[in-house]
Amino acid sequence: MDWAEEVLRKLREEGLYRRRRLRDGLLDFCSNDYLGLRDHPEVVEASLRVLKEEGLGSGASQLVSGYTRHHKELEEKLAEFKGTPACVLFGSGYLANLGTIPVLAGEGDLILSDELNHASLIDGCRMSKAERFVFKHRDYEEVREFLTKNRKKYRRVLIVTDTVFSMEGDLADLRELYKLSEEFDCLLYLDDAHGTGTIGEGRGALREFGLPWRENVVLMGTLSKALGSYGAFVCAEKRLVDLIVNRARTLIFTTSLPPSLCAGALKAVEILEKNPDLVKELRRRSKDIHRRLSDLPAEVPFHGTPIIPLIVGEEERALDISSRLYEEGILLQAIRYPAVPKGRARLRFTVSLRYKEEEIDLLLEKLDRCFKEV
Ligand SMILES: Cc1ncc(COP(=O)(O)O)c(C=O)c1O
Repeated sequence: MDWAEEVLRKLREEGLYRRRRLRDGLLDFCSNDYLGLRDHPEVVEASLRVLKEEGLGSGASQLVSGYTRHHKELEEKLAEFKGTPACVLFGSGYLANLGTIPVLAGEGDLILSDELNHASLIDGCRMSKAERFVFKHRDYEEVREFLTKNRKKYRRVLIVTDTVFSMEGDLADLRELYKLSEEFDCLLYLDDAHGTGTIGEGRGALREFGLPWRENVVLMGTLSKALGSYGAFVCAEKRLVDLIVNRARTLIFTTSLPPSLCAGALKAVEILEKNPDLVKELRRRSKDIHRRLSDLPAEVPFHGTPIIPLIVGEEERALDISSRLYEEGILLQAIRYPAVPKGRARLRFTVSLRYKEEEIDLLLEKLDRCFKEV
């Protein structure tokens, strides 16, 4: 095991060693349960009912016997919610991106990918046999230049982006991307994991920009963040969804979601649909908390989303602050390379409707002290 020990030693030396923290009993300020839906009584009840009827696991892949009416009902609801013709579920967001991108682009094709895209998108691009071009974050001029010079060389072109960037909290400019994808005849793959439930009245990034879904748009989202569940979905044109069901290896060769999770997620979507004020309240609180966080000696950007990173730079410093908070009963994880570029380490604070006023006060008091100490 010397080799493993050596790798671990290096990670420790570079401030990149990771450990899992038990969150039990801590105040958690970094979960993606933005709306606090994961233990909403109606969500729990809907899920429990199906758990009792169907049992724990789904038993097989969607293509074998793991596709129930609970899966189908959720897919239909999500397609309607997102304003698209069809939808297909995946076991997780990671699996959705890993499996879908290689279905859409292969040999002879090109993928254009934002440099700050989530790791699951990067891995999905790597899994495809397409050529890749990584553009600077939100630099659509660079995309335009590249396409002007190179579009003709490729059969299909796929532009891939987070809608709300998971570590920055900023938004891709979908209006610009719509224009580009139309002008250069591209497919547009949007990962709306953090947009779903947080922007566009909860319906996500397209609604936020006032854009209708179009045939060249493949819209992925997760159940695991604002919807408080686990799993993911891809919304697209019917034939594309059919193709994904036939080709995506991370759907075909894996057991489908437990039916009780689907029932819980369906209830969460219904709650969101009926209460768009939840999203307004999330934004109001995010603004308010951001104002209070901006006094800290860190870069604290705000883009109207509940992801508010406290960028401190050095890996060791982020780690030190996070460890001190942990000792005080607060969970606010340090995010370091490779999740973010080297030297851009941060504490990824996320706003959730779960937090009580006095908990935020406590966090601010502790943060203030920890930042002074390090
Ligand atoms: C932008 C983005 N896409 C995909 C995922 C993966 O989703 P999941 O956690 O459901 O695998 C995440 C986060 O985990 C994410 O932030």
